[in-house]
Amino acid sequence: MKRNKLVSALALPLLALLPVACGGGEELPELDPAQVAAGKTLFTNNGCVACHGESGKGDGAAAAGLEVKPRNYTDKAWQKKTTDQEIKKVIKEGGAANGMSVQMAAYGNLSDAELDQLVAYIRSFGR
Ligand code: HEC
Repeated sequence: MKRNKLVSALALPLLALLPVACGGGEELPELDPAQVAAGKTLFTNNGCVACHGESGKGDGAAAAGLEVKPRNYTDKAWQKKTTDQEIKKVIKEGGAANGMSVQMAAYGNLSDAELDQLVAYIRSFGR
């Protein structure tokens, strides 16, 4: 177990460098399954799933009543052109502050680590 932790502690910074090594985002970087799982829990517990849906396609139960529908996260073109920073900014500041629908609320209570986990989960829909 200890050994595993050490390996992941070493592997993570290396994974973060992968997109750079691969020449600037041609390949989508690998995801850490633990980050994705934690993100899924946050996505459920914070009610994101009600609008964005289990499938990430913007087809949650509450989405039917929304004027502007949430985007389909499985869209690979969007996954490629959107940065993690942009995703985190919308979650933290909300839609209105970012030229998007006011129905996307601001989740300013989430920590940076939690935002990273949500990003990992949102990214997982595009893989
Ligand atoms: C009440 C419904 C609702 C809930 C709950 C909700 N969202 Fe959204 N979200 C939206 C809508 C609608 C948009 C699209 C805004 C637009 O395109 O104008 C959006 C946009 C976004 C975007 C921007 C994506 C893009 O198009 O670039 C992200 C990221 C996001 N939501 C993440 C989350 C996360 C994470 C949560 C939970 C912490 C959450 N949302 C909760 C409705 C919701």
